[in-house]
Amino acid sequence: MMKTLVMFFLVVLGIFFACKHHPLIPVEDEPNPNNPPSGTSCGPDSVYFENQVLPILISNCTQSGCHNTTNRADGIVLTSYDQLMSTVKNASSPDAGKNKLLRVINETRPDKRMPPPPSSPLTPDQIALITTWVQQGARNNRCTDNSPCDTLSSVTYSGFVKPLLTTYCTGCHGTQGGVSLQTYNDVRNQALSGQLYTSVSRAVNPMPKGGQRLSDCDIRKLKRWIDAGALNN
Ligand code: HEC
Repeated sequence: MMKTLVMFFLVVLGIFFACKHHPLIPVEDEPNPNNPPSGTSCGPDSVYFENQVLPILISNCTQSGCHNTTNRADGIVLTSYDQLMSTVKNASSPDAGKNKLLRVINETRPDKRMPPPPSSPLTPDQIALITTWVQQGARNNRCTDNSPCDTLSSVTYSGFVKPLLTTYCTGCHGTQGGVSLQTYNDVRNQALSGQLYTSVSRAVNPMPKGGQRLSDCDIRKLKRWIDAGALNN
């Protein structure tokens, strides 16, 4: 009898503590429109704002003096979805004549185009990506890459490093921070000095400046390319 009572007491105690740590009624986070669910896995047919469009805007448009929250050149800020939508005229319109974002990135006259000289224009791939994103509804979407991180195959300069830097870095590095990442030799110098890896992996203010930290997988792949000699492969 005594034994049963003690057992019963222990079970009740166990449930009490278990419940304390894992409440049966989960506490719902307030839905935040700025943080849409991150669970969507990346699909090849969609363009995702946070993953693909925002890094291009951060790198090419938010340099010092331009469309960041401090300088707000022409009243335009391109550091987040909300800022883009509230400061750029018709930014969600698929009509390239009305949509100011599409208009300026497609402009070829040097005094009209964005980013302006001496910065390079966006690449045709970047323009196509942004156009597709607008045509798909200009949503504040993001995705999670659930595929395993493959650090072995395809971690080459041409196949991985250059496209990564073109998306996240070269809009600024050309002209900013005293560091060029435009040519292979520029990148190699930064890689072999250790600066490239440090800049993206440090805990505080990692590059890309003002943007989201690169994914762990991208950082691991970059490290692998550097450790293998930062080859022009
Ligand atoms: C919005 C502009 C911007 C973007 C995008 C950006 N940088 Fe920078 N970067 C700077 C500026 C400005 C500096 C000078 C130091 C500072 O102000 O933090 C700098 C400094 C650096 C330096 C040298 C000193 C340091 O801080 O480590 C390296 C290396 C670097 N960046 C690499 C990168 C890489 C790699 C990327 C892309 C993953 C990137 N940057 C993206 C603006 C940018």
